[in-house]
Amino acid sequence: MTRAQPEYAVLTRGLTKRFDNFTAVDDVDLAVRPREIFGFLGANGAGKTTTIRVLCGLLVPSAGEAWVDGLPISSSADQVKRRIGYMSQRFSLYMDLTIGENLEFYGGVYGLSAPEITERGTAVAEQLGLSAFRDRLPSDLPPGYRQRLALGCSVLHQPRILFLDEPTGGVDPVARRTFWDLIYDLSEGGATVFVTTHYMDEAEYCGRVSIMDRGRIVALGSPQELKRSHGAVSMQDVFLKVVQP
Ligand SMILES: Nc1ncnc2c1ncn2[C@@H]1O[C@H](COP(=O)(O)OP(=O)(O)O)[C@@H](O)[C@H]1O
Ligand SMILES: [Mg+2]
Repeated sequence: MTRAQPEYAVLTRGLTKRFDNFTAVDDVDLAVRPREIFGFLGANGAGKTTTIRVLCGLLVPSAGEAWVDGLPISSSADQVKRRIGYMSQRFSLYMDLTIGENLEFYGGVYGLSAPEITERGTAVAEQLGLSAFRDRLPSDLPPGYRQRLALGCSVLHQPRILFLDEPTGGVDPVARRTFWDLIYDLSEGGATVFVTTHYMDEAEYCGRVSIMDRGRIVALGSPQELKRSHGAVSMQDVFLKVVQP
């Protein structure tokens, strides 16, 4: 069944997640359009990963609601999971499987048929510059390429919405720049990208960003708008002005 593109790829209203008495995500309202590259910024512990895990249907919200690809996560978590790709902060590759075998394995996890696994595995390896490494182990990969493979694994099933949780953590600046080129390619291919980072230079690569502080959204807009409205010269500067020390 095909459906019309919903107005929002991700929409939240009063989204809240508590762990016992601690509120990790506090009354969050977000609206992300299809094909946006949306940067979800915040310091460590701000609540980014918890929000993503709720949006991916892995955690149940304590209050509020979220819609992903137009579907309410409260009642459609399983359908949501089929439409999204999720590269978790601590993604796991199988270190004893080759690059090609990792792609095949994840293709199976996402329910692709054998011919689809071959076709998509080849296309993804080509797109991410991994073709030459298919028979090598992840430990043989140049720096930054493991991240590419993890990204590749999360897009095999051509998800409409991609959640990337600190995909460039621990990667050198050159590899980070190339990784962002891949994110642009995926966006041009029609995907919505919801990406967390704490590298403020990367915030500049996003169409719009939000800044989260202790569970709450404290700033939202394009990098240009935020810099102008806060009289700031850089996103780092904006960040320091809106986040409590
Ligand atoms: N399962 C959990 N139980 C209790 N507290 C949690 C749990 N998961 C996250 N937290 C807390 O919620 C806060 C936000 O965490 P997280 O969403 O991982 O932040 P970020 O990804 O922005 O670094 C942190 O204080 C963290 O310790
Ligand atoms: Mg996190």
